[in-house]
Amino acid sequence: MTTPAPKRTVTNRSDTGFGAAEREATQQACDRFRHLPGPLLPILHAVQDALSYVPKEAVPLIARDLNLSLADVHGVISFYHYFRTERPGRRVLRICRAEACQSVGAAALEEHAKRSLGVDFHGTTADGAITLEAVYCLGNCALGPSVMIDERLEGRVDAHRFDEIVAQARTAR
Ligand code: FES
Repeated sequence: MTTPAPKRTVTNRSDTGFGAAEREATQQACDRFRHLPGPLLPILHAVQDALSYVPKEAVPLIARDLNLSLADVHGVISFYHYFRTERPGRRVLRICRAEACQSVGAAALEEHAKRSLGVDFHGTTADGAITLEAVYCLGNCALGPSVMIDERLEGRVDAHRFDEIVAQARTAR
């Protein structure tokens, strides 16, 4: 006698977490912006705003909606550093790499950040707490090096202050 196969739980989400809600957010972005001249960027921004990233499953939906090739959409996503194709950690920490911040130590801060978090840009720490991103000017040039943790801007950030920001980010709800 053979043992019956275990029942599988069927959900409408893929392994990557792209389900009905993500599909709906992508469709809403297309519906909202497809009439604009140059609708791709606004649509990608809307998808990332809604989902925190642009899932790979969203790309064919957007391409079909705009009558573009997959390569067209991928090309734009990969050109702009801002777009993220992996689900981020619980907090997103951006380091400014633009000139004014570079002139007051942003490169050293960047090295410290990568080393202490154990990730490169676009990477997420092993505990899923923090995703490190680069940004090119936060409008806080006089107070560099500048970083942004989620929506909060921090200026004159050295390695010590960076570690404090990370520790707070890890414990904050
Ligand atoms: S150059 Fe860093 S905030 Fe403007």
